[in-house]
Amino acid sequence: MGGKGGVGKTTTAAALGLVAAERGRRCLLVSTDPAHSLADLFDHPIGNRPTLITDSLWGLEIDPDEQADTHLATVKARMKRLVHPRAYQEIDRQLDLARLAPGTMEAALLERVADVMRLAGGPYDQVIFDTAPAGHTVRLLSLPEIMAAWTDGLLGHRQRSERLGSALQRLGGGRVRGDELSLVDDPVDHEEGSRDAELNNLLHARRRMFITAREQLLDQTQTAFLLVLNPDRLSLLETGKTIDILTRFSIAVTALVINRVIPDDADGRFVEARRQRDTQYLHEIDSRFRRLPRVRVPLHPGDVHDIDTLRSLGRLIVDQSA
Ligand SMILES: Nc1ncnc2c1ncn2[C@@H]1O[C@H](COP(=O)(O)OP(=O)(O)OP(=O)(O)O)[C@@H](O)[C@H]1O
Ligand SMILES: [Mg+2]
Repeated sequence: MGGKGGVGKTTTAAALGLVAAERGRRCLLVSTDPAHSLADLFDHPIGNRPTLITDSLWGLEIDPDEQADTHLATVKARMKRLVHPRAYQEIDRQLDLARLAPGTMEAALLERVADVMRLAGGPYDQVIFDTAPAGHTVRLLSLPEIMAAWTDGLLGHRQRSERLGSALQRLGGGRVRGDELSLVDDPVDHEEGSRDAELNNLLHARRRMFITAREQLLDQTQTAFLLVLNPDRLSLLETGKTIDILTRFSIAVTALVINRVIPDDADGRFVEARRQRDTQYLHEIDSRFRRLPRVRVPLHPGDVHDIDTLRSLGRLIVDQSA
């Protein structure tokens, strides 16, 4: 689920989640937006762990801060087992700096996204992400590389012991080639239970998670991308750009959700003027994006915050897509 600010991404994600749940699917609705709005939308506390919102629908608001802290704490602990206690202070210093470095929060967020993606087809039948615009999604595709640079980099560039260095070299350092799995699957001659083997397993598991996330994202039988837009100029331009970026990375957009369309039965001169404007943009959307399935969602006169309204909005989307 992607689209420009305020177009209705969260509304659409919630609406589709409610319909999935209504149809008996166990659905997890995930917000990746640091300014989370799921809790407000459902008027229900939702945090960094899956929380039941209503029958068969769970919510999760990813907290990149917590993720980054947890991750760095793990890395610290592991690194300390690999070096002399004299180096502990330096490890703490380096990792505390890394915590503040540009990109750390995003890496933490993306890591959690990849982690949550694994829940699809497991505890949940469906996972819906309410995301920021395209950049994010595309960066998810580069996860194995980005994360190699992040974690392996953290581990690799510090005061490393010989053994740590060689373990990383065998893992390919920051460079990941085409056959990544064979790379991480390289048999490594560590003694069972040794510290090197433990480090190796950690990196191995992470790399594998990111590679699986990428495969999942690119697999149209598993993943759908919906872009939400409004019938207005900026939204249309933004959608065009997003589609271009996604296409460049071989991600197919599944459908467009054109939200806030003035309904046919709305009347009044003011509304009529707005409708003419809508009509113009709807034509433009239809011609410009004619190759993509499109569904229209009417502008509601009031708020769309209550579960019944959201659910009916969701049914409208699902029925049009059928
Ligand atoms: N079809 C609609 N009719 C009336 N109001 C709507 C409709 N769709 C969304 N809204 C309202 O518009 C506002 C913005 O919607 P929403 O929060 O879903 O957008 P968003 O794309 O998630 O925004 P952000 O980019 O800030 O996350 C909300 O108050 C929502 O209730
Ligand atoms: Mg939102």
